Amino acid sequence: MSEYDALIAAAKRSREHAHAKFSNFKVGAALRAVSGRIYGGCNVENATYGLTICAERVAIFKAISEGERKFDAIAVVTDTAMLTPPCGACRQIIWEFCGDVPVVMASVKGKVETVRMSQLFPKPFDSSNL
Ligand code: THU
Repeated sequence: MSEYDALIAAAKRSREHAHAKFSNFKVGAALRAVSGRIYGGCNVENATYGLTICAERVAIFKAISEGERKFDAIAVVTDTAMLTPPCGACRQIIWEFCGDVPVVMASVKGKVETVRMSQLFPKPFDSSNL
């Protein structure tokens, strides 16, 4: 049991909806708002490839569009032995909306590792640079 079990379970459920017909790499994410609500997301690929959006950004944009503004954790689930950290674009977006949250990387088979955003993204560009 960990405080992230529900978050990981939500990311796993979202992963089932992944539209990953080009890479066959299915990703699920789940974002926890301080309200306690959890927002899931999956990767949604596109035939033009570049319009693909990652699971993490889908989850964040869903939450933002529902009026949420404060978050305390995000989970990413894949079916790989090597756990999946957010890509560079997602790191920028996670930092912008969530700050230094724990990023819980998990596999479908139950491997889990948690790192903070400040470890993944140590020298960000953000509004403090403007
Ligand atoms: N992907 C994600 O959804 N999240 C990540 O953290 C890594 C990559 C997606 C994008 C694309 O649909 C597929 O995984 C392969 O890169």
